[in-house]
Amino acid sequence: MNRMSYLVKDKDRAPARSMPIAPDPSLPRVCVIGAGSSGIAAAKACYEAQIPFECYERGTVVGGNWVYENPNGVSACYDTLEINTSCPRMAYSDFPMPAHYPAYAKHHQVAAYFEDYVAHFGLGDRITFSTTVDRVRQSGDGRWLVEVTGPDATREEIFDAVIVANGHHWDARSPDPAYPGTFDGEQMHSHDYRHADQLAGRDVVVVGAGNSAMDIAVAASQRARSATISQRRGQWVLRKFLLGRPSDQINLPTWMPWWVTSARLSLGARLSGNVARLGLPQPSHRPGQSHPVQSEGIRTALRSGALTPKPGIERLDGVHVVFADGSSVRADLIVWATGYRVSFPFLDPQLLTVRENDLPLWKRCVHPDIPGLYFVGLLQPVGAVMPLAEAQSVWITELLRGTYVPPSDAEVRAQMTRDDLAYKKRFYRSARHTMEVDFDHYLWDLRRERRRGARRAAARRPQRSTERVGLNA
Ligand SMILES: Cc1cc2nc3c(=O)[nH]c(=O)nc-3n(C[C@H](O)[C@H](O)[C@H](O)COP(=O)(O)OP(=O)(O)OC[C@H]3O[C@@H](n4cnc5c(N)ncnc54)[C@H](O)[C@@H]3O)c2cc1C
Ligand SMILES: NC(=O)c1ccc[n+]([C@@H]2O[C@H](COP(=O)([O-])OP(=O)(O)OC[C@H]3O[C@@H](n4cnc5c(N)ncnc54)[C@H](OP(=O)(O)O)[C@@H]3O)[C@@H](O)[C@H]2O)c1
Repeated sequence: MNRMSYLVKDKDRAPARSMPIAPDPSLPRVCVIGAGSSGIAAAKACYEAQIPFECYERGTVVGGNWVYENPNGVSACYDTLEINTSCPRMAYSDFPMPAHYPAYAKHHQVAAYFEDYVAHFGLGDRITFSTTVDRVRQSGDGRWLVEVTGPDATREEIFDAVIVANGHHWDARSPDPAYPGTFDGEQMHSHDYRHADQLAGRDVVVVGAGNSAMDIAVAASQRARSATISQRRGQWVLRKFLLGRPSDQINLPTWMPWWVTSARLSLGARLSGNVARLGLPQPSHRPGQSHPVQSEGIRTALRSGALTPKPGIERLDGVHVVFADGSSVRADLIVWATGYRVSFPFLDPQLLTVRENDLPLWKRCVHPDIPGLYFVGLLQPVGAVMPLAEAQSVWITELLRGTYVPPSDAEVRAQMTRDDLAYKKRFYRSARHTMEVDFDHYLWDLRRERRRGARRAAARRPQRSTERVGLNA
């Protein structure tokens, strides 16, 4: 990969796989949970590394969150959704998005891209659909017992390692504790929003300042009888295009420190203009200290008066929502665009608990105390998830094959603490910032670690496959 590897061109598309790859039975057997954009990257990496694997997907198609009305019942996709990370930034390293896609592809184009990826690399029949992973537990010998329910029956299978790719934008998080008072109208979470018909002719209050709130508030401004957006904290709202280019297509070396990314975001915020001038709360953090929020439509909606800006909610009062500044609006629908919980319903809470949305991991991927359990796509990049999930997946397969050897346990923990502290210091404290990473720096750092581990592996004699699955085996 070169230093600007996300700027892939059509010619970078890897050849289609015509011959199946035979798994090597001497390698650890892996269970991949989920076939969203992270799970399919993990499945491809296992397939190409000849690692025997099963990939279980509860739905009937790949693509997870990007599939509108996904039969898996947990996609947050709505009809106007498009990516907020441009196509080159979002594409896997060896499979650019089609050249005819717009800079920011629509959800159906993104879903089609994931389907093409699976077909192109011969993974179609390697994914087991309509099969839910219900339970994952460790057996006495350190292997993994995975209980799955398919169309016909529930069964248990044994694996040497488990890759968790179940996504972290499906478990809706509503205010907890709830706001005081009672509300006579309807309440829904942004996860259940699909199209503007749900808002048409109603008095809508959208709560939140993330990307979901932006999109739904813009839709409400066009279709609702009245539309209000309530934010407990202001955000720097970036435009998707700056100086005529998608704003994330800046050609900088990937080893650049965080302050360069932060400076880029600050410049973007300045050029985009502060939406506090249009009545939204003034951000109390500097640009670059939050997960990027982007919207082309929010300024038009506010300027035209079709969307009323309000501060955070103080209380609910029958048919009214009362705000922190004492003002109130009449409402019959509240849309809580208040984010998501990180959760793994199939993991025993005694094995692992997520506190306040936080699950510290080494390189956001490896649990230092649970050998053989890996997480892919469990991060919030300032940039897109897919290339990072891809890099994590390849790294895991190197670890499983023994071509990568991790540093000492003490070094792993030291790195983990250092990275965790650095990332948490950069972003204001919030449940939405527990796993934020810098896209470019993350890729660069992981590449560097993979090279180091390859050198350690070369200096060691080959291990037996059962010793390869853990960090500290
Ligand atoms: C509205 C919205 C817009 C977004 N926009 C962007 C964007 O523009 N760019 C970006 O990079 N990211 C974006 N994201 C983040 C998004 O999470 C990622 O784009 C991407 O969907 C993550 O892929 P994933 O595979 O990790 O998770 P998902 O897409 O959620 O896929 C997880 C898959 O696992 C399956 N699964 C879950 N549990 C089980 C189980 N127990 N057994 C079997 N299968 C299971 C699910 O059915 C699903 O198919 C957005 C998120 C939301 C909510
Ligand atoms: N492609 C796209 O255009 C697009 C569209 C939608 C979503 N997304 C992505 O999807 C992911 C989730 O985004 P999201 O917007 O759904 O969630 P989010 O980024 O987690 O934002 C949640 C928002 O709700 C606020 N909030 C949380 N609890 C609250 C409470 N009790 N009362 C009032 N406000 C509260 C948060 O405020 P604080 O900051 O103060 O915590 C924040 O503004 C992100 O990765 C995002 O980029 C992308």
